[in-house]
Amino acid sequence: MEPKAKRMRKEWHVPASEMARNTFNPIRSIVDGMKLTPNPEKQMIALSIGDPTVFHNLPIPEDLEDVVIQKIKSRKFNGYNPSIGYEESRQAVAEYTSTETIKYTAKDVILTSGCSMALDLCISVLANRGQNILVPRPGFSIYKTLAESQGIHVKYYDLMPERSWQVDIESLESAIDSNTAAVIINNPSNPCGSVFSRDHLLDILDTASRHKLPIISDEIYEHFVFSGNKYYSLGSLTTDVPILSCSGLTKRFLVPGWRMGWIVITDKNDVMTEVRKGLVSLTQRLLGPTSLVQASLPEILAETPQSFFTDTLGYVEDNANLFYKLISAIPGLRPVKPQGAMYMMIGIDIEKFPGIKDDVDFTEKLVKEQSVFCLPAKCFQYPNYFRIVLTIPKDKVVVACDRMRDFCNDHYMTMVNGHT
Ligand SMILES: Cc1ncc(COP(=O)(O)O)c(C=O)c1O
Repeated sequence: MEPKAKRMRKEWHVPASEMARNTFNPIRSIVDGMKLTPNPEKQMIALSIGDPTVFHNLPIPEDLEDVVIQKIKSRKFNGYNPSIGYEESRQAVAEYTSTETIKYTAKDVILTSGCSMALDLCISVLANRGQNILVPRPGFSIYKTLAESQGIHVKYYDLMPERSWQVDIESLESAIDSNTAAVIINNPSNPCGSVFSRDHLLDILDTASRHKLPIISDEIYEHFVFSGNKYYSLGSLTTDVPILSCSGLTKRFLVPGWRMGWIVITDKNDVMTEVRKGLVSLTQRLLGPTSLVQASLPEILAETPQSFFTDTLGYVEDNANLFYKLISAIPGLRPVKPQGAMYMMIGIDIEKFPGIKDDVDFTEKLVKEQSVFCLPAKCFQYPNYFRIVLTIPKDKVVVACDRMRDFCNDHYMTMVNGHT
C-alpha cells in the first residue's frame, strides 16, 4: 500500500487566509497613508471622527447609566443569552420600531453587536460569493469592507449633491444586473447628512419592487433629522419589497461603545422564510451583544426621556447651521446643507487651488497649516469633497471655520480680469 502523502515542508509558510487578505477598510488605508503633522502652534481640531462621545459635550442621561449598573448588580445576566438575543429585549425593539402602518413582534428582531454586525449578517444571508450588492456613492465604507472580504462584489449607484444627495434612480436601475443580490440604502446618511422624503423612498421601493430586489436599509441614524424633515423607515412604507433594517443604540442614544445593534425584518408576503432561518443560523457562529446591555434595552427604549433626543438634535442642528453659514462664505468651498445625521459634505473647487492635487492633499495641507482634520471623501468613493462631523463643541466650530477660511484665502486662486 502506498504511504499516505505527508505534509513535509522545509520552511515555515503560514499565510493569512483569503478572507483576511481581502478585508480592506478604505478609511483606515487612506487615513493611515496620510501625512498628518499638525501645526505645532495650533491645537488640533479633529472634525473627522464619527464618534459623538469624543469631546464629552453630549452626555447621556444618568438614568440610562443606572439601568445598566442595576443589571450588573442583579447578577441575573452573567450567563449566555440566546444567539438572537433575549426575547424580552427583541420585543422591546419590535415595539420601538413599530409604526401605525407596520407592527413588529420579537420574532422579527435579531440583536447584534452594533449596526456593523447587523449589516454583516444581512449581507452574508442575502449574497453569495461572486454576486454583487449595490451601495450608495458617496457611502459609508463598511459595506464594501464587509462584502469584499467574502468575495461579494460591490457596485455603486450615485447620489446627487445638487438634489440634497437623493438617489439617482436611473443610476440605481442601471447598476442592477442578474447577479445583484440586494441593494443597500442608508437614510439618514453618513457621510451626506441627507434625509429622504416619503416620495423619494417610495421611488426607491418601486425600483426594488420592479426588479424583485430585497433591500438592506441602514437606519442607524433613524429619527436623527433636523427641523422641517421627517423620518420614515423603509419598512413602514413597503407593500411588497422585503426589507432587512439595521439600527441600534449607537447614534441616537450616543453610546457607540455599548455595541448594541439590531436587525428588524419586514416581509409582508413571506418571501424571506429561508432568510429568517439563515439569519438565525448565522447568529450561531458568534454571540452578539453583551447580555448586560441587551437586558437593559426594554428600559432604555421605553424610558429615555424625549428631552434627551430633542436636546441632542437641537445641539447638532445648531452646529450644522453655523458650520453651513460660515463655510458658505469661504472661497472655493461648497457645503451641501445637511438635513439630519451628524455630518456635512463639502465640495472643493479643486481647480481653484493651484498646487493642491485632490481632497486628500487638501485635507493633509489643512492639518499641516491649520491643525484642522477633516475626512477626505475619497474614503467614501467621492473625491474632491470632504466630510466634517457636526457633534463638536460650539466654540470649536467657529475656530475650525476661521482656520478653514484662512487656509482657503491663502491658497485660493483669485481671478482678476481673467488672469490669476
Ligand atoms: C451609516 C452607518 N452605518 C453603520 C455604522 C456602524 O454602527 P455601529 O457602530 O453600531 O456598528 C455607522 C457608524 O458610524 C454608520 O455611520
